[in-house]
Order: sequence, then C-alpha cells, then structure tokens
Amino acid sequence: MLSQRIEEAINEQIMWELYSAYLYLSMSTWYESIGLRGFASWERVQFQEEQAHALKFLDYIIARGGRVILRQVDAPQAEWESPRKGFEHQLEHERLVTSKINDLVDLAIEEKDHATYNMLQWFVDEQVEEEENATAILDKLRMIEEGGGSGMLYMLDKELQARVYTPPAAEKSA
Ligand SMILES: [Fe+2]
Ligand SMILES: [Fe+2]
Repeated sequence: MLSQRIEEAINEQIMWELYSAYLYLSMSTWYESIGLRGFASWERVQFQEEQAHALKFLDYIIARGGRVILRQVDAPQAEWESPRKGFEHQLEHERLVTSKINDLVDLAIEEKDHATYNMLQWFVDEQVEEEENATAILDKLRMIEEGGGSGMLYMLDKELQARVYTPPAAEKSA
C-alpha cells in the first residue's frame, strides 16, 4: 500500500509528465510551422516518451493498490523566438522535472518506501539522458548562431529527423 503522501506526490508527477508531453507537442507543431520538419519529428518522439513516463507512474500507482486522480494540465507556450530559445526552454524544463524526481526520491526515503525508491531510479537515469540530449542540441544551435549559418541548421534538421521512438521497456533491456 502506498502512503497518502507518496500517492499524492506521484499523482502530481503524472501531471508534470503530461505537461511535458503537451509542451513538446506544442514545440513540435511550432517547428513544423517554421519549416523545421526534423526538429518537429524529434519533438514528436519526445511527446511519446513523456506520455510513456506518465503511464509508467500511473501503472505504478495501480500496481501498488493506489488511486490515480488526473489533474488539470496547463496549456503550454505556443511559440519561441528561435530554435535556440526552444531548446533553452526544453533544458530549463527538464531541469525542473529532474528536481521534481529528486524531491520524490527524498520523499520515498523519508517514508521508507523502498519499492517507490527503486521505481524512481529509472527516472533518475532517464533525467540524466533528457538533460544531456537537450544540452547536446543546444550546443549545436549555439554554434549555428555563432556563424554556422542556415546550411548547418539544415544539416541539424536532417540529423534530428533520424530519431525514432523507443518504448521504455525496450530501453531497459538494451
Ligand atoms: Fe519525463
Ligand atoms: Fe528520454
């Protein structure tokens, strides 16, 4: 059985994962609107990942005999000044999510909930990857702004187009 506090906190985290999905879907459609199809496709994969994160938490609550109560998800921002601003936002948002996951880990320790602590380790690792991914693309966008020109942006768009969605279960066994 989950403690009231843990159940509450994971329900809150489901909202954050769904908000993340919503934010990246918004970014995807914005990239589409400025002709960056590869960026759009990359964010669409990210949208799928975030939905999988939400479901992972949701399934965990169910597995532990808790009750899922879905919350209101805010509307995301609809446009950005540039792709660079988009990825700055993405990195900043992932850092926020990392802090939420860390708070959950702290709570699991406080409540001596070992199962929740274990489940959260997947997310601790995932957040390292999320911040790394956003940082790598942001670094390239900075280079492009510092003189790479639109040819490099075109190349990066092509590179991002290659990303395919890998469900969490498959990621685990890899
Ligand atoms: Fe996530
Ligand atoms: Fe990821």
